[in-house]
Amino acid sequence: MVDILHMDAACFLRDLGEDAADLVISSPPYFMGKEYDSSVCVADFLAAHKQLLPSLVRTVKPGGSICWQVGSHVKNNVVVPLDALVYSVFSECEDLKLRNRIVWTYQHGAHCRQRFSGRHETVLWFTKGDHYNFNLDAVRVPQKYPGKRHYKGMKRGQPSGNPLGKNPGDVWDIPNVKAGHVEKTEHPCQFPVALAQRFVRALCPPGGLVVDPYLGSGSTGVAAVLEGCGFSGCDLEERYVAIARKRIENLRLGLLKTRPLDRPIHVPSINDSVARVPSEWISSLPK
Ligand SMILES: C[S@@+](CC[C@H](N)C(=O)[O-])C[C@H]1O[C@@H](n2cnc3c(N)ncnc32)[C@H](O)[C@@H]1O
Repeated sequence: MVDILHMDAACFLRDLGEDAADLVISSPPYFMGKEYDSSVCVADFLAAHKQLLPSLVRTVKPGGSICWQVGSHVKNNVVVPLDALVYSVFSECEDLKLRNRIVWTYQHGAHCRQRFSGRHETVLWFTKGDHYNFNLDAVRVPQKYPGKRHYKGMKRGQPSGNPLGKNPGDVWDIPNVKAGHVEKTEHPCQFPVALAQRFVRALCPPGGLVVDPYLGSGSTGVAAVLEGCGFSGCDLEERYVAIARKRIENLRLGLLKTRPLDRPIHVPSINDSVARVPSEWISSLPK
């Protein structure tokens, strides 16, 4: 089941009903002056979250999860980390327990002159209640040293790692969606499908329902369908809804390109001309 609706997040969550979702993955507007932002004020971000929280929590099943992806609000080189605001609101709800603050890092973005360039955003993963779905084996990654062995004790000589790989940790290096990324659409602020896909694999039971109330280009929906789950999402902008629907249709037709979660980060070869120091710079380099 895939439902992609053109509507407001609050109405959408109200209509979804109680305990409908196994997993919510979403990235709300940051109120930074993007084409879809209704305000540029951090106080409005906070107010919108306070208003949304009760219906958001109501929508999630006990044992389900909310993964809330945000970056920083930046104005005149003054940074407000939005996850701090989200945490201040969400932690007011006793049912929600923060399990991880995932740091999503990437290599590309604006080059700052008055501060260090921003190269990460975060995802706060909350569970509803103390007992929750978490399938670590589904998201293990290869170890750096799989050949390591216990060197003492009862297991001496046996491999010390897990044959399925290691825990991916809480810092995820996944390329962001800029021009040239295989997933890029007209939406100005997509997150990569792989970011959502790791959460779906780990946190959604087979065939469960994934929800995104700020769906944008539909990256969460693509991740859910790729993982064999149901999806329900909405966006206030009709043209984003159209993009999301088209992406799901193309996925079903086998036409949609996505960047696989396990594809290594590209390391440029010295033979790439853009990876070489320009000849004009050589004389000015430190000896
Ligand atoms: C940060 S973007 C989400 C991008 C998405 N994660 C993706 O990968 O494409 C936030 C989205 O929220 C939508 N939006 C803003 N206010 C909304 C509201 N009240 N209800 C539903 N959607 C809203 C915007 O149109 C925008 O597409």
